[in-house]
This record gives sequence, structure tokens and C-alpha cells, in this order.
Amino acid sequence: MAATSFALGTLRPSYLLLLLVATSGIVTPLLSQATDTVSRSQPLSGDRRLVSQGGKFALGFFQPVGGTPDRWYLAVWFNKVPKLTPVWVANRVAPISDPKSSELRISEDGNLVLYNQLNSPIWFTNITSSTSDPTIGMILDTGNFVLTLASNLTNFLWQSFDEPTNVWLPGAKLGWNKITGLNRRLVSWKTSSDPSPGYYSVEIDLGGSNQFLYRWNNSENYWTTGSWTGTMFSGVPEMALYPKSLLTYDYVNNEQENYFMYRTNESKIIAMFSMEIVGQVKAVSWMESAQDWVPFLAMPKAQCSVYLVCGTFSICTENAFTFCSCIRGFSQQYGGDRLYGNSSEGCTRNVGLPCAGNSSRKEKVDGFYALAVANFPDNAWSVAAASDNEYSSLGQSIYVRLAASEFSSPTKTRKALVTGAAIVGDGTLVAVKKLDGISQGDKEFRAEGN
Ligand SMILES: *[C@@H]1O[C@H](CO)[C@@H](O)[C@H](O)[C@H]1NC(C)=O
Ligand SMILES: *[C@@H]1O[C@H](CO)[C@@H](O)[C@H](O)[C@H]1NC(C)=O
Ligand SMILES: *[C@@H]1O[C@H](CO)[C@@H](O)[C@H](O)[C@H]1NC(C)=O
Ligand SMILES: *[C@@H]1O[C@H](CO)[C@@H](O)[C@H](O)[C@H]1NC(C)=O
Ligand SMILES: *[C@@H]1O[C@H](CO)[C@@H](O)[C@H](O)[C@H]1NC(C)=O
Ligand SMILES: *[C@@H]1O[C@H](CO)[C@@H](O)[C@H](O)[C@H]1NC(C)=O
Repeated sequence: MAATSFALGTLRPSYLLLLLVATSGIVTPLLSQATDTVSRSQPLSGDRRLVSQGGKFALGFFQPVGGTPDRWYLAVWFNKVPKLTPVWVANRVAPISDPKSSELRISEDGNLVLYNQLNSPIWFTNITSSTSDPTIGMILDTGNFVLTLASNLTNFLWQSFDEPTNVWLPGAKLGWNKITGLNRRLVSWKTSSDPSPGYYSVEIDLGGSNQFLYRWNNSENYWTTGSWTGTMFSGVPEMALYPKSLLTYDYVNNEQENYFMYRTNESKIIAMFSMEIVGQVKAVSWMESAQDWVPFLAMPKAQCSVYLVCGTFSICTENAFTFCSCIRGFSQQYGGDRLYGNSSEGCTRNVGLPCAGNSSRKEKVDGFYALAVANFPDNAWSVAAASDNEYSSLGQSIYVRLAASEFSSPTKTRKALVTGAAIVGDGTLVAVKKLDGISQGDKEFRAEGN
């Protein structure tokens, strides 16, 4: 068995226990599974899993809730939390279809390699070891999955903490190594059941400032935490509310590194930060009474300040259970498991406009519907409003062109002071006119000279 290849001096209590149990001839399936390592002689396959020494984290194959049945991922999750919560996914873009015929192995060159059901390597570490000493993969009580020398378990050749997915665990660095260029950043899952990379990411400012930048599609910066003040980020004052006996932060910026770290008092809370599919980073803690994760920090605080979160022709309403809805005349086009931030998703027009190729429908003239909004996004793809009832108190409107059949009452002709114009969508289906000083609610008026 694997443990016998270790020199006695490097044996840790768990191996000793395994050895003792093995030699006394009472190995139960449960005990033989309770190892924290994968080695040359003991690969990982099927429903076998590694469990860290103190039992806090497990590594194995898992399937996201609501996911496609034949998509499995190699992941690390909280072993003591009854709700399966992956904190790291190895093959996030390349699921395997059958864990029984797939295997995580230590290859001849000492790397960790995940082979799928066709025996093709679909995920691997890429280290070049300077020694021929055997290596092992080991899940630690911090949630870090490491590749290490069997002869020196603290000599990490590779670690999952260097390649985070969407979750940032206590004790892990979020930031970059200025010497090697390694940049540890969080990238959201695509949907709640698909761990492949979504549109939202967060990383330390590579320009050197002490703040985190939020990005959409690796390009558009949509939020920043503000600078670190020593106790909090200037844009997240709530950070300073938590007692040091519960949560502490470390910020390091020197010649080698620029990173942020936090620690929790594990005797009090199980907590993590994650970049959610909706573009916010949330800090959550496990609440035994609720049997669920409960958020205690959201960055940014306002869901609706996340770039493109609801997609096109949509309204984002803060604090609503379903914060995305469609503007009048449009309906949701996506199903339940949606990809937030996709500029081609969102809402589509219920009835096409005559000008959109249907010249036969000349008998009815389409009209404009006035929608007052709280905030215009920079790019006018979507709008944010406090609530439907608050439109009248807000000072800005957009005028959305709809087919005549979308208006229940006869449309009234109105003249509007057009102070600006924006085209949303593909630019041909809708015209949006923005005006200031509107004091009434919904208004309808006929398209003029269009
Ligand atoms: C593996 O590492 C080598 C040397 O650092 C590099 O040239 C190569 O591109 C890497 N391969 C992958 C798939 O990352
Ligand atoms: C094990 O590796 C660590 C990290 O590289 C090193 O600091 C330590 O000296 C090594 N221990 C032994 C016994 O070689
Ligand atoms: C997102 O980024 C990719 C790669 O840079 C680019 O090809 C794509 O057009 C972008 N998507 C949008 C909607 O801008
Ligand atoms: C963690 O919480 C325990 C129990 O309240 C307390 O005794 C201990 O001092 C705390 N540890 C730290 C590092 O604050
Ligand atoms: C965005 O949505 C469009 C339309 O639903 C879809 O075709 C496209 O694949 C989506 N983009 C991504 C990256 O999934
Ligand atoms: C155009 O008119 C035809 C026939 O009246 C109808 O079937 C079609 O749905 C219309 N297209 C749009 C975009 O409204």
C-alpha cells in the first residue's frame, strides 16, 4: 500500500493509523477511503474521495445540482458542510462523463493528470521537478490541494490555491507574484450548474495600487473595491464591522508580491468569499440553524451596479427576489439556468416592428412608451430602476418604440423634448430617446416622422 513507501520519519499520524489498522487486518472500506493522498500506486477514481487530515475538506468527482447528467468535475468541497459546496474545480471547461472510468493519477514525470473515460489527459499540472523523488497529491485542511514531494510534505510543487476558480478560502492569497507573473484571480461560474468561466472576474490591480478591480469579459472594468486603508477597502466600509476575533485581513505589497489574504476563527465560523454568477463577490458563512450559507458582505453592495447583469431590454430592480425583469413589450428569452452578463441574452421584443422587414403591416403605426429610470448604464444596454412605482418621482426617461398592438388603449400623440438619443440592441429594432424633467409616470405617444 501507498503508506509503506514513506520513510518512518516522515509519517504523519494518519499514516501511522492506516498502517496500524492495515497490519491488524481490520481495514474497513470506509477507513481505506479516508486517505488524504493520491500517489503513483493509488490513483483516484469513481466515488472514492480524499479527505483532509482534520476532515475539513474532501476532493473527488462531483456533479453540480441541476447540471447535465453526464458532466462530472474533479473538485474540492467542504467535507463537513451537508450542502455540497465546491470551492475549487480542476477541469472546469472539460467535464468527464464517467467517473468510474476516469482517473486522477500521478504521471511518470511526477505531475497530477486527470484522464477521462477515453484515457485522454484533460487536466494536468505542469511542473518540471528537479528531483526524481516520488510526488503525491494531497488535500490539506486549508482546502488547498497540493502536489508535493513524498519525502517533504511542505515542499509544494503546485497548489490549487495558485489556480483558484470562483472561491477564495481563508489563508489563500488573492493577488499576483511580480517575479513569476502568477496572477491569482476569481472567475465566476458560467451558470449555477456550469463551472466553466462566466463573464465576471475580480483581480488585484496589476498597476500596483492596493485595490481589486472587477471585470466583465476580461475587458470592461465595472467596479473597484477602492483602496485598502489598513482596516477596510474604502468602497467596503462594512469590512471593518467584524471583530478581529472572527475575521482578520492581511495586505502585502512588496517587491515580490501584491496580494490580499484573510483568516477566520475556525472555532467560530466556516466562511468563504466567492465571485458569484451575478458579478458580486459575496462573503458567506455556514449557518447550522439554517443549514445554508448566509451572506455577510456583498461587493459591490448593489446588485444592479454589476455591468450588463440582466442583459438587453431589461430592468434591474435592487432587493427584488428576481432582480431582472423586462421592459414593457419584451419578454425573457432565457431559461432557468441563465448566464448573467451575456449581452445577447436578456429580453426580446414580443411583437416585431413594421420597420423590421414587415412592410405589409403599414395600417397600424407603432408608438413610443416612456420608461422613467433611476440610472442609465454607461452604454445604454440595460436600465436600472428602483421600482415600477417610483418611476414618476425620477427625473429621467427613455422612450421605447413598440408595435401598436402592444398598446391597450389608443395611443396619444405627444411631443417630447429629446435631449439625447441612444440606440440599444442591434440598433435597428428599437430607438430609445432620453429626456430630462419628466414628472409623470408611464406615457405613450406615437412615433413621429419615423
Ligand atoms: C507547460 O510548461 C512549459 C514550460 O514552462 C510550457 O512551455 C508549456 O506551454 C506548458 N504547457 C501548458 C499546457 O501549460
Ligand atoms: C522541505 O521543503 C521546505 C520548502 O521547500 C524547506 O523549507 C524545508 O527545508 C524542506 N525540509 C527538508 C527536511 O528538506
Ligand atoms: C468577450 O471577449 C471575447 C474575447 O476577448 C470577444 O471575442 C467577445 O467578442 C467579447 N464579447 C462581447 C459580447 O463583447
Ligand atoms: C477564536 O475564538 C475562540 C472562542 O471564542 C477564542 O477563544 C480565540 O481567542 C479566538 N481566536 C482568535 C485567533 O481570535
Ligand atoms: C450568449 O447568448 C447567446 C444567445 O442566447 C448565445 O448564443 C451565446 O452562446 C451566449 N454566450 C455564451 C458565452 O454562452
Ligand atoms: C411579419 O408578418 C408576418 C405575416 O403577417 C408574421 O408571420 C411575422 O411574425 C411578422 N414578423 C414580425 C417580426 O413581426
